Amino acid sequence: MAQKLFIKTYGCQMNAYDSARMAEILAPLGFVAAAAAAEADLVILNTCHIREKAAEKVYSELGRLSRLKAARQAAGRGMTLAVAGCVAQAEGAEIMRRQPAVDLVFGPQAYHRLPEMIARAARGYGVLETAFEVERKFDELPEVRVPGGPAAFLTIQEGCDRFCTFCVVPYTRGAEYSRPVAEVAAEARRLAAAGASEITLLGQNVNAYHGRAPDGAGSWGLGRLIAHLSEIEELLRIRYTTSHPCQMDDELIEAHRDIGKLMPFLHLPVQSGSDRVLEAMNRRHRADDYRRIVERLRRVRPGIAFSSDFIVGYPGESEADFAATLALVREIGFAQAYSFKYSARPGTPAALLEDQLPDEVKVERLRHLQALLARQQRAFNERSIGERVEVLLERRGRRPGQLAGRSPHMQVVNVAAGDELLGRVVEVEITHARAVSVAGRLADARPNAPRQLAPPIEEARIPA
Ligand code: SAH
Ligand code: SF4
Ligand code: F3S
Repeated sequence: MAQKLFIKTYGCQMNAYDSARMAEILAPLGFVAAAAAAEADLVILNTCHIREKAAEKVYSELGRLSRLKAARQAAGRGMTLAVAGCVAQAEGAEIMRRQPAVDLVFGPQAYHRLPEMIARAARGYGVLETAFEVERKFDELPEVRVPGGPAAFLTIQEGCDRFCTFCVVPYTRGAEYSRPVAEVAAEARRLAAAGASEITLLGQNVNAYHGRAPDGAGSWGLGRLIAHLSEIEELLRIRYTTSHPCQMDDELIEAHRDIGKLMPFLHLPVQSGSDRVLEAMNRRHRADDYRRIVERLRRVRPGIAFSSDFIVGYPGESEADFAATLALVREIGFAQAYSFKYSARPGTPAALLEDQLPDEVKVERLRHLQALLARQQRAFNERSIGERVEVLLERRGRRPGQLAGRSPHMQVVNVAAGDELLGRVVEVEITHARAVSVAGRLADARPNAPRQLAPPIEEARIPA
């Protein structure tokens, strides 16, 4: 009999990719998607450890699930409870101590062994698997079959060697690893053949990519990889995330100049506009280096839009440091951005610093920065009114009768259109701007012919 699977995903897009892969590994074992956790025989929380709030959410969710599990057991049905992802990697056995209802804990580089772990758990053993086996993982995972929509994710790089002082990623995901070019290209071709028109190449430090060249001689950087993937005919759009400013090399900048399929949008986190804070964070570049990269990209690709991540209230951040961040934001002008209060993470160097700032200061600075970023995002959206942009329609929109997708600049675009246009790239004239989206009217349906998305293999789908 089919068993039911429910996966809840937290954190970054790499976790979303991993969740999809987990569903694919489990499909041959007879797992089909459950609509809710209460109906599931196996529940996996794919977790994020980046900030304290993200990690704490997991424990409250586990409390709720342990009660669901008890209720199911009372009704004579079981529930296997698994914690995956970065909290699993960072806290390991501690999770089972804090929540004994948990049967399995496994890290982001161990999930290729899921079938075997589930079998062990079924025999009543608690399972803890936090080895870093990233190369084996990609060797052993089944080939991706279902893109999950017209815009697909493809992890090309894992882990990080940069050790920014605030960040848990080098500890939760391990050392940097790049998948070989041939493997990435094969996965991209499969996704495109199954109906994906857009691919976002993923990595915690994606522009550090240096995958083995197809002929085995040496390695290729991200710019060259993108050029190679752009030759896949059905693939219309390529994006990548997340990048570090120190690794925007010439080849990658030239890719933005030469490759039309590479979308004119870049998420390039700067974290702070103060050189003193950047140095303390071990970011290894100055605010001016960031300005220069943005300038170069704007020169080679006029109209390119930028997004960034910011941390406010890093230990020792002064009013002057914060003012430097605001100044940088004003100068660059971001199309969108993410900003966070600094959160001390166990095991990271910054957590041990003495000059931690009081929460009120962080709250106030965050409010100030977010107000500025929100104004910039709205202004960016307003400037696009009257423009005609190509939109890949990915899903149903805000209102009935609408579809939604992304502009080349990554804006969410809502447009009145029938379901027959799902998965198509259409030309839209932008007519309205909102805070975090725009709306427009259909100008033309082109240039990709109607495409059939490979029917989702029912059992491989993860619930939204
Ligand atoms: N690899 C990416 C970042 C991944 S984490 C990069 O190098 O930019 C995503 C974002 O979370 C970071 O850019 C940072 O802004 C934020 N972040 C990471 N650790 C944090 C912490 N301890 N407190 C607050 N925000 C943090
Ligand atoms: Fe974390 Fe990004 Fe720094 Fe790596 S480069 S340590 S992922 S913030
Ligand atoms: Fe979170 Fe891990 Fe991604 S800590 S942001 S899920 S790499």
